[in-house]
Amino acid sequence: MLEVKDLKKSFGDRKVLKGIDLNIEKGEVIGIIGPSGCGKSTLLRCINLLEEPTSGEIIYNGEKYDRNRNLSKYRREVGMVFQQFNLFPHLTVLDNITLAPIKLGILTEDEAMKAAKRYLKKIDLADKANNYPDELSGGQKQRVAICRTLVMNPKVILFDEPTSALDPEMIGEVTKLMRDIKEVDFNMTMIIVSHEMKFIKDFCTRVIFLDEGKIVEDGTPKQIFDHPKDERLQRFLSKINTR
Ligand SMILES: Nc1ncnc2c1ncn2[C@@H]1O[C@H](COP(=O)(O)OP(=O)(O)OP(=O)(O)O)[C@@H](O)[C@H]1O
Ligand SMILES: [Mg+2]
Repeated sequence: MLEVKDLKKSFGDRKVLKGIDLNIEKGEVIGIIGPSGCGKSTLLRCINLLEEPTSGEIIYNGEKYDRNRNLSKYRREVGMVFQQFNLFPHLTVLDNITLAPIKLGILTEDEAMKAAKRYLKKIDLADKANNYPDELSGGQKQRVAICRTLVMNPKVILFDEPTSALDPEMIGEVTKLMRDIKEVDFNMTMIIVSHEMKFIKDFCTRVIFLDEGKIVEDGTPKQIFDHPKDERLQRFLSKINTR
């Protein structure tokens, strides 16, 4: 469904991604792990066409996409959730959620409002519809940000460390929402960058270990966490708590 072909990205003369090949099937939940600075966010940003790759291709359902080709069509299909939520501080929760689908002409104002209210109700934030982001907890903000992505009815959602800006007691409410999304729509494809190893291990169907801009290992959570082959992955896992 989503194919990344020999993706390379440099910033100046710093090579960050050094040839990433990735084939993602519909419904896969992919966890991306790896040391800080190895290129995880850059990879997600390239997949979401926020960043222009130096070379390589992004192919979605057989069609090539880049920032100058079908960008708005791609944005409807592939959504992204950020570590810092990226909500607009001057807009209410409701306006944050409805802005993109109205602007892109995907939903009418009326449809967008109805959909937004439906999602807010589902995540128990109906009473916050007219509040501003500053008036919400971190966990609530992230759930609103996820709602904002869902209202576009995406087929793929990219999550870049969705819980790492949250206090420990709020991490659970966000991971629960991610699990609920998958439960409601079994075909939803997700790519998740996270340091929550326990969550990655028991939620993802496939895990990718990235190091120095390359995929070093790609396998089931069991293969990656219980039987790591590469010495770099073994070293990475020995430093973190996976339980
Ligand atoms: N816009 C940019 N300009 C210059 N260098 C950048 C830019 N974005 C990222 N980099 C560099 O690319 C490298 C990879 O960054 P990236 O954010 O993808 O790492 P990461 O794996 O997501 O790390 P972390 O786990 O800390 O979030 C880093 O050395 C970073 O400094
Ligand atoms: Mg990052």
